[in-house]
Amino acid sequence: MDAKIVLLPGDGIGPEVVAQAETVLKVIAERNGHVFEMTRHPMGGNAIDSHGDPLPEETLAACQASNGVLLGAVGGPKWDDPNAKTRPEAGLLRIRKEMKLFANLRPIKTYKALLDSSPLKKEIVEGVDILCFRELTGGIYFGQSGRRPHASGEEAWSEMIYSTGEIERIVRLAGIAAQSRRKKLTSVDKANVLEVSRLWRSVTENVVKNEFSDLTFENVLVDAMAMHLISRPRDFDVVVTGNMFGDIITDEGSMLTGSLGMLPSASIGEDGPGLYEPIHGSAPDIAGKGIANPLATILAAAMMLRHSLGLEDEAAQIEAAVDAVLDAGHRTADIARGGASLSTSEMGAKVVESLS
Ligand code: IPM
Ligand code: MN
Repeated sequence: MDAKIVLLPGDGIGPEVVAQAETVLKVIAERNGHVFEMTRHPMGGNAIDSHGDPLPEETLAACQASNGVLLGAVGGPKWDDPNAKTRPEAGLLRIRKEMKLFANLRPIKTYKALLDSSPLKKEIVEGVDILCFRELTGGIYFGQSGRRPHASGEEAWSEMIYSTGEIERIVRLAGIAAQSRRKKLTSVDKANVLEVSRLWRSVTENVVKNEFSDLTFENVLVDAMAMHLISRPRDFDVVVTGNMFGDIITDEGSMLTGSLGMLPSASIGEDGPGLYEPIHGSAPDIAGKGIANPLATILAAAMMLRHSLGLEDEAAQIEAAVDAVLDAGHRTADIARGGASLSTSEMGAKVVESLS
């Protein structure tokens, strides 16, 4: 197949980890007879510096004309001034909205070889395999907001809005995923307090009743979910929730696996190219040192092959190679627990070696 892949290396460690994923994609293309045309475009803080815009028009146009987009990470202290005209994060929110990427898939899966890297007990995290569907283009992230004068100074407000259609489409994707997994779906909300969550709950229940009666379904309040995630994470299969709750519980979930450096994510819409990225940020503290873990980005590239290019087999090849590298005991500093560690490019090279 011929595919156009857009690389958005971004800021901090982004370029370092994307370079390794690019090498892995090249090897996959060669091995399987594909042509991947890969181009790099500015986004994030670097794009603010070069274009005055975290998501320049030409970058967005290239993404929209591609088959899939691989993003490293955006942001850093240089662009953190709260009074700045724009921020790297604004580019991320805009690309999600413009590309209509309403579903953010975040797998939380523990690796046998890394069980000791989790801050939680091995008995709790062993065998955890959760797929979280976070709604990504609605909710409080995209509602109206503002400030107004108040007797004490000022007050600020942010609206959280969900429509029936927005809830239905994300629940449907989660339901379909659950059908090909362990057939369990959990919806997370705050229906005991928020009206928006009461709509979320009733729409979700209707979709499940009418279209997914083969699934075991439950509603869980987000505060309880925060607790269950660390006390009995193995009980969850597919989890579906809104934008902000999903942001929070997936960061919590990532700790089950021990390192943020291991987790990929996929943002997809009804059709069109998806956006794939590691869950971790730009890690300015270690940027340029060549020690970042490239595996989350390499695994994000695998998700891109699966969800946007329909290359299931090739995705599985990458995942198997990562498994093999970890099983062989290779570690970057974040998962080495003080033991010997490989550099970013040495880890990438191990994956390539294991592929061939
Ligand atoms: C994430 C990030 C973003 C979010 C930030 C950087 C805007 O935390 O992808 O989870 O809150 O969605
Ligand atoms: Mn987040």
